[in-house]
Amino acid sequence: MTKRTWENLVLQRKVSQSITQAGTLGWFRPLSVIGLLLAVILVFRLELDSTVAHAQATLKGDPAQGKAKAALCSACHGVAGVSINPLWPSLAGQQEQYLVKQIKAFRDGEREEITMQPFVENLSDQDVADLAAFYAGLSPCP
Ligand code: HEC
Repeated sequence: MTKRTWENLVLQRKVSQSITQAGTLGWFRPLSVIGLLLAVILVFRLELDSTVAHAQATLKGDPAQGKAKAALCSACHGVAGVSINPLWPSLAGQQEQYLVKQIKAFRDGEREEITMQPFVENLSDQDVADLAAFYAGLSPCP
């Protein structure tokens, strides 16, 4: 093999290598940019979700606010949270988290009761927390 042929071979190899590399990179570059973007979006979303979950978990009810918001509820559940109608439950002294869960279940349509639904359907999570804190703080035996 002459020196020239050898040099040509080496050159050819280099060229084909760089073409494959360029080809690979050519594909990889936009893909990795998209991947990076997706990763950033994912991390951001996770961060956001955990912030929301955290805010919900730590939402604290204010019994005084709850009392003010319970004006309508008292028509059925009693002013002191003790119902006089056998078909309407007493809420006084009930567990706070249970009340939050049930009021939200009515509000979100998971628990159905046509008499309850209209009174809770527009409550915010803070309203629910306040109402629950209010009823949980009342004595079941006034
Ligand atoms: C028209 C009467 C009426 C009004 C007004 C009303 N409720 Fe009720 N509530 C009911 C009835 C009836 C039930 C029982 C539903 C059932 O049988 O599943 C109930 C059930 C509940 C429960 C579930 C209790 C349990 O032990 O599971 C909660 C909590 C509650 N109401 C909260 C409220 C709050 C807070 C308001 C005001 C925003 C309100 N209710 C307004 C009639 C009413």
